[in-house]
Amino acid sequence: MPAIVFISPKGGVGKTTASLVLGTQFAKHGAAVTMIDANPNRPLRKWGTGAHCPENLSIVSNVHEESILDVIDAAASTTPFVIVDLEGTAAKIALLAVSQASLVIIPMQPSNLDADQASRALVVIAQQQRMSRRKVPHAVLFTRTSTGDPHPDHDAHRPVAARGGCADARNRVSRARGVSCDVRFQ
Ligand SMILES: Nc1ncnc2c1ncn2[C@@H]1O[C@H](COP(=O)(O)OP(=O)(O)OP(=O)(O)O)[C@@H](O)[C@H]1O
Ligand SMILES: [Mg+2]
Repeated sequence: MPAIVFISPKGGVGKTTASLVLGTQFAKHGAAVTMIDANPNRPLRKWGTGAHCPENLSIVSNVHEESILDVIDAAASTTPFVIVDLEGTAAKIALLAVSQASLVIIPMQPSNLDADQASRALVVIAQQQRMSRRKVPHAVLFTRTSTGDPHPDHDAHRPVAARGGCADARNRVSRARGVSCDVRFQ
């Protein structure tokens, strides 16, 4: 049972969107999927009430720190794919979800601010790896990438892509915490 967990302490980087894209693609190709909505705002629950939700995609919400492990276990026993969407937090619930993950995906937009926050998510993964003495496969997923003109705002907000491509953002994340990561594009 692959459990795929989307984390980032930064809000608005694309966790919910990317998790929905993945979940609906699994469902579209015939796989049963449980999506665990671990965000108190329940964005997946709200999306799931629409007519566009595939029949083989179920959504479990109202998940808390105390229940996340049980909920992931229960989902894994009923569907071959489990996807967890967390709120923008580096709290204990993220560590717990990562402990059950077959793959952790850290979405980030290609900016320095997002790179700093993505590196905090990598720390959570590194901590879990030490605690469990197992490798936790993980990747940074660049979202909303653009090849457009440099952003005129403050340097911290300038798209890294404008100053040398997404590889710069990847290197920044890696340098910040002394860890390596894969990079994927959405
Ligand atoms: N690849 C994308 N292309 C265009 N827009 C996107 C993409 N991914 C996310 N967005 C938009 O960015 C906004 C924030 O995305 P989303 O809600 O998925 O982020 P989040 O990380 O789940 O935020 P939160 O931490 O608040 O839950 C939304 O308006 C969404 O439509
Ligand atoms: Mg979200």
